[in-house]
Amino acid sequence: MGSKDSKSKTKTKMADTADKFRCYQKSVQAPEHEIEFFLRAYKDAFRKKAYTLREDFCGTFSICCQWVASDKKRTAIGVDLCPETLQWGRDNNLSKLNQDQQKRVRVLEQDVRKKNRPAVDILAAQNFSFWIFKTRAEVVEYFKIARSNLQTQGIMIMDMMGGGECLTEGQTDKRTVKKGKKGFKYHWTQHSYNPINHDAEFYISFKFADGSKMKRAFTYQWRFWSIPEVREMLAEAGFSHSYVYWDVEQDEDAESQWVRKEAAPSDPSWVSYIVAKK
Ligand SMILES: C[S@@+](CC[C@H](N)C(=O)[O-])C[C@H]1O[C@@H](n2cnc3c(N)ncnc32)[C@H](O)[C@@H]1O
Repeated sequence: MGSKDSKSKTKTKMADTADKFRCYQKSVQAPEHEIEFFLRAYKDAFRKKAYTLREDFCGTFSICCQWVASDKKRTAIGVDLCPETLQWGRDNNLSKLNQDQQKRVRVLEQDVRKKNRPAVDILAAQNFSFWIFKTRAEVVEYFKIARSNLQTQGIMIMDMMGGGECLTEGQTDKRTVKKGKKGFKYHWTQHSYNPINHDAEFYISFKFADGSKMKRAFTYQWRFWSIPEVREMLAEAGFSHSYVYWDVEQDEDAESQWVRKEAAPSDPSWVSYIVAKK
């Protein structure tokens, strides 16, 4: 029998004290791979190195931070509406940079649909974030503004996902992010999909080693856009060319290999990039 004291104590669950932004960053983001791809896509487009980056929907702007750390001449602008998310980025990502690097990151708490200066070499909108715009008119308006935020030799990069599994309601992808007593699992749930208007809802949840769960840590209500629709809208917004980079590495556990393609085999769950030249 335990003492009166120990009886009254309820054990704190790991999910109650976990930091959702830290879990997100550990499970979803790989800034060094993103940057490697951005540089390669820019080189493919203009045969030179890129130095300026704008990260729309930047969240905790880890890509901006990694970007400025990758070269002394690089500068980055991060744009997001959410003050809490940006503050987490300042406290946990920006603070890890040295003073010179910190000075080369600018954070704008605003809507992405705003023209800012200086114009940049690369504008990235990662993690399907522009899918928040649910009509053609809204996306085209955003793409026009994004284009105006690019310098003459500039590219916009966005990731896309698709395949039958992404449309299957109740489908949850599970991945162990960290093993052991302090470990956790990442769950990506396709909650709903409306085939008539392509509205789709997704959740990110985290499950911890003690069995506790942070349910719906992040919720996304998006329109499920397809690659051809997005390319048509990019052209309508004035972009001169768009390219699709497809992952030709068949083995799921191996590192992705992005190759420009105009045709690809059907796949139940795929991720790709679209790169648009100003
Ligand atoms: C899916 S998260 C992406 C975070 C990060 N880009 C990543 O790759 O992990 C979407 C982010 O977009 C932001 N957001 C949504 N609508 C926005 C808008 N109109 N303008 C600026 N930020 C917006 C949200 O605050 C959120 O941080």
